[in-house]
Amino acid sequence: MREPNEADDAAVARARAADAAPLRSVAALPGPRGWPLIGNLLQFDLPRLHRQFEDWADRHGPTYRLRLGRREVLVISDAETIAALLRDRPDTWRRMRPIEAVIREAGGHGVFSAEGDDWRRQRRLVMSAFDPGHLKRFYPSLQRVTERLMASWREAARRGEAIDLQASLMRYTVDVTTGLAFGVDLNTIDAPHPLQEHLDKLFPMLFRRVNLPFPYWHYLRLPIDREYDRHLRRVHEAVRGFVQAARQRLQDEPTRRERPTDLLEAMLAARDADGSALTEEEVAGNVLTVLLAGEDTTANTLGWAIWLLHEHPDDWQALVAEVDAALGDARLPPSFDAARGLASIEASVGEAMRLKPVAPLLFMEANRETALAGFRLPPGAVVFCLMRRAALDARLAEDVADFRPGRWQDGADRAVQKASMPFGAGPRLCPGRYLALLEMKMVLGMLARNFELLEVGPEGGGAPGERMAFTMFPVGLKMRLAERARR
Ligand code: HEM
Repeated sequence: MREPNEADDAAVARARAADAAPLRSVAALPGPRGWPLIGNLLQFDLPRLHRQFEDWADRHGPTYRLRLGRREVLVISDAETIAALLRDRPDTWRRMRPIEAVIREAGGHGVFSAEGDDWRRQRRLVMSAFDPGHLKRFYPSLQRVTERLMASWREAARRGEAIDLQASLMRYTVDVTTGLAFGVDLNTIDAPHPLQEHLDKLFPMLFRRVNLPFPYWHYLRLPIDREYDRHLRRVHEAVRGFVQAARQRLQDEPTRRERPTDLLEAMLAARDADGSALTEEEVAGNVLTVLLAGEDTTANTLGWAIWLLHEHPDDWQALVAEVDAALGDARLPPSFDAARGLASIEASVGEAMRLKPVAPLLFMEANRETALAGFRLPPGAVVFCLMRRAALDARLAEDVADFRPGRWQDGADRAVQKASMPFGAGPRLCPGRYLALLEMKMVLGMLARNFELLEVGPEGGGAPGERMAFTMFPVGLKMRLAERARR
């Protein structure tokens, strides 16, 4: 981490001078009343934390304060302020410290939780593994995995069965991620794989631990902690298996060291060529990071998008018409470029991520004294960014709360587009975004071209509930399909 220097002091001084008014203290802001000593910590309702923070913004204003113990927390919902903070990383801002500690303990310390120079080193490697050129070479494998998903949905349609949408989509995303990043064809769609069962249990526990006031599990292991350890052990067994298999490939075909075909080979080749590039712990940590970052995020977003499109039949029909025209007789996008060109899917997904962002909250911490939105923030100050509230700011458009994919296509709603940051912003913008968009175009394109949506929603109807467990997911989504007649 860079030490604060004179330039930083100058930045604070400039910020002070720029704001005519003197910098204010966060303590002066309104906010929900807390308890002595612990502040608001015990009030946090974890499964609906994002809703709770949004409700407090309704009550106390878009900028308010919380207290974590004795520490004041600034909560912000203004898109420009959030974007400015996110851009100012890794020097001025970092992810809130407990995130690193909890992920490190889980053996998942990698590019998501790393900071400073460690982060810079890892970020370069991870970025190149997910760039569009790499995705293009991976396209045939992506088609194969999408065909498997289509076959499983066709089977369900023929039997008249409801599909457990989240579970089905998570099998898809885990297969795609492990194929692209680790060179493994897991095929959890055709047969359950133990990795998936164990992987799914990690996010809720990581989220819980990040938000608990005290790491009690260092002193006392409750049954849920022992259960979590068991899942973690099984996930690490799988991670070790992926690393061993990639090492074997590099040994069998040494040319792969020069031209690695996936992220894992690239990390191992860099490690072997220059021991300082990545530690063994960082290689394993990044495998777990990518497994976690790539599964729920994309699956949840797809789940929300399918539900929203089912609720808006005109938008769905427009999307079906575009896919029919682009695909002709093909059941899936025939090429990488055909998939990338599906603009109405991109627009629908953009709108789904705005209304139902799977990362509605980002937790940041100041590395040094700084100023933000007119507030003086000491080193260690914590800021919570309300990402969804920023994208739903009523000042942006009259119909800001409505699902209207058209606003992403005609460019009319640039202000709304700019305020929506589902992949974050600045130098730590999600490196998996091209992959995520491609997966979503494949799945929605396949769905539109081959099936009719009969029902999408929770059992008993209504809108699905939102639940937070590191990512925000729709509760109990089921989908019933019919096969479309072939023309
Ligand atoms: C719709 C799907 C996805 C969404 C909404 C999403 C969202 C995000 C967000 C909000 C961040 C934090 C960005 C920031 O701090 O500014 C992030 C970081 C990250 N995401 Fe994604 N993500 C998605 C899919 C993926 C996929 C498919 C992968 C990889 C397979 C991935 C890998 C990562 C990694 C490694 C980071 C950490 C980057 C860093 O700290 O430098 N994500 N993502």
